[in-house]
Amino acid sequence: MKILLTGGTGYIGSHTAVALLEAGHDVTLLDNFSNSKPAVLDRLHTITGVAMDFFETDVTDEAALTEIMKQRSFDAAIHFAAPKAVGESMEKPLHYFKNGVGGTVALLQTMADHGVRNVVYSSSATVYGFSDDLPLVEGAPTVVINPYGRTKLMCEEILQDLCRADERWNAIALRYFNPVGAHPSGLIGEDPQGVPANLMPFVAQVAVGRRPELTIFGDDYPTPDGTGVRDYLHVMDLAEGHVAAVEHLASDPGYDVINLGTGSGISVKEIVAAFEKASGMPIPTVIAGRRPGDGPASYADANKAASVLGWRATRSLDEMCADVWRWQSQNPNGYGD
Ligand SMILES: NC(=O)c1ccc[n+]([C@@H]2O[C@H](COP(=O)([O-])OP(=O)(O)OC[C@H]3O[C@@H](n4cnc5c(N)ncnc54)[C@H](O)[C@@H]3O)[C@@H](O)[C@H]2O)c1
Repeated sequence: MKILLTGGTGYIGSHTAVALLEAGHDVTLLDNFSNSKPAVLDRLHTITGVAMDFFETDVTDEAALTEIMKQRSFDAAIHFAAPKAVGESMEKPLHYFKNGVGGTVALLQTMADHGVRNVVYSSSATVYGFSDDLPLVEGAPTVVINPYGRTKLMCEEILQDLCRADERWNAIALRYFNPVGAHPSGLIGEDPQGVPANLMPFVAQVAVGRRPELTIFGDDYPTPDGTGVRDYLHVMDLAEGHVAAVEHLASDPGYDVINLGTGSGISVKEIVAAFEKASGMPIPTVIAGRRPGDGPASYADANKAASVLGWRATRSLDEMCADVWRWQSQNPNGYGD
């Protein structure tokens, strides 16, 4: 298949590009570099031996998208491009609605105009909020707890409406749990700008000496060791989930929503212990109070992905930590400037 990846130089997009090429697909990347670096393209070339087709474009720019669609033909798009920081979304909601929702509408309109009606969308487990009813099944109630989550839910609803209105459309919204890890080459990985908002890159920066300690927010949750539990999955497993999803579009499924997670939860303390083992470095920690908006536990029911897509996460926590450590220790400052 010929596939357009918006946000293709970002963390999940770049790993998915590798998995798609390995599966024999033709890949074109689009990104505005608002949260990634051009160096990713060289790294992808080194890993795959292929100079990937790339457009430096903003996904909200319908005229630019039209030019790309005129120059290239696509069978499907995988739509990653969007800002993704929950805290920032509360300070700059319009930025999130413009890029997250406006970008999705611009992409879908351009696709429709050019007869491309297959799309995989990056949604998030954040749409479930926190529930006592675990594991989280796709039919569980959705709850919006911040503007970022609202953009994800709005885009899911837009895709659902589109598929309802025109049966030629096929759209799969993938609800990711907590992607971590890096490509085993150590050449590409997660490179957050500023203070990492997610646990694993923070732990890795402590291990490599960029930060003195990890603050654990809450050790009095009703979980086995008191710290928060999440469903961490290896980014290469997630990337392969996208290959399965985009290939499934060919069977004309209409609209569907599917969790991508391992189905089991890992605590903050378990992550710290596994990372110390993988890196051989101590991770000093301090305990602080719970953060507003955080909850005790969240993990997926991963059975639908297995039955519909034939996909299951296979990589272990030790593998996730070893791959993050390889990436972080070989690139202490990420992709650099
Ligand atoms: N990483 C996670 O934990 C996680 C979890 C659930 C969902 N998601 C979603 O998955 C997608 C990819 O996440 P990621 O972790 O790879 O993030 P990322 O920031 O690494 O990648 C997103 C890419 O999109 C680009 N981008 C942003 N706005 C753009 C625009 N207007 N035009 C063109 N390019 C633009 C950025 O430069 C970046 O390269 C996002 O939609 C995110 O919300 C991520």
